Amino acid sequence: MNLLDAIGNTPLVQLHNITKGTQAKICAKLEFTNPGGSIKDRISRYMVEKAEKEGKLQPGQTIIENSSGNTAMGLAIVARQKGYKLKIVIRDTTSKEKLKMLQVLGVDVIAVDASLPPEREDSYNNYAKNLAAKNPDLFYIDQHNNLNNNEAHYMTTGPEIWEQTKGKIDYFVAGIGTGGTICGVGRFLKEKNPNIKIIAVDPFGSIFYDYFKHKKLIEPYRYFIEGLGDEFLIKTAQFEYIDDMIKVTDKNSFEYAMKLAYEEGIIAGGSSGANIWGALQIAKDLDENKRIVTIFPDSGYKYFSTIYNEDWWKQHNNFAD
Ligand SMILES: Cc1ncc(COP(=O)(O)O)c(C=O)c1O
Repeated sequence: MNLLDAIGNTPLVQLHNITKGTQAKICAKLEFTNPGGSIKDRISRYMVEKAEKEGKLQPGQTIIENSSGNTAMGLAIVARQKGYKLKIVIRDTTSKEKLKMLQVLGVDVIAVDASLPPEREDSYNNYAKNLAAKNPDLFYIDQHNNLNNNEAHYMTTGPEIWEQTKGKIDYFVAGIGTGGTICGVGRFLKEKNPNIKIIAVDPFGSIFYDYFKHKKLIEPYRYFIEGLGDEFLIKTAQFEYIDDMIKVTDKNSFEYAMKLAYEEGIIAGGSSGANIWGALQIAKDLDENKRIVTIFPDSGYKYFSTIYNEDWWKQHNNFAD
């Protein structure tokens, strides 16, 4: 088997301990079992292969992308397997473990100041795009506006969930980062059964919730959950596939990631904590006949210096409100 064929077909497991006190069944798709350690392997392969087929990406070109680390890892694997070079723009708040992994894979990493206003030329959101515009040897993947990101989930994650649950699914709850996961899976599940409810989880500080609920663009502010939320509206956030959205704090996300470890033996990242917290909020109103599916996008091994480190909690005043 080729390494790229090992991407996807991840397990869906039922949670039994963290769900105590709720009636509905909650299942989680363990995306950290992908070869690059996250759900982003799926879109990395799909976006690169689509660009190759469409003739947009030529042999010898360098792929460039801005990523919270996981897409970077996925692209690194795809680039290594297919012989492309890779340049990645990350925020300087990205965990040390993710940075180290990219260095081990020989990726050219550019870390930008996460506190720069998003409209600045050299901000996280603009840096890769601007560099690619000036240099024809660079191919900008643009996971935030590339609908092949969503299509990857429509073609793989969605059908896998449908098969693994044999169609017995009532809610899909997932964090919204690019929106690729929730909108791609949401579109697939709604085509199968329009009664399935799609619920997004958005961090406090991100703009999505207020836009979704009130068409209002708030001033974004800093939060520490990696991979979720945004400061801008982006093309891949296709709100038409989302039924409702809930807000999550850094504290709830990180505490629930730790609870997953203590109670289920699953060492997952902060967005998995956000997702299980969200799923449990939805479960409160449901009976035992209902099933919620959620996603654990990446592993906790990438966050031992942050979420699983007491000093880091202290540095951030224990994420007190
Ligand atoms: C750790 C983690 N969780 C969740 C997400 C969100 O997934 P999506 O971009 O498909 O909305 C990301 C995306 O970067 C991520 O890195």
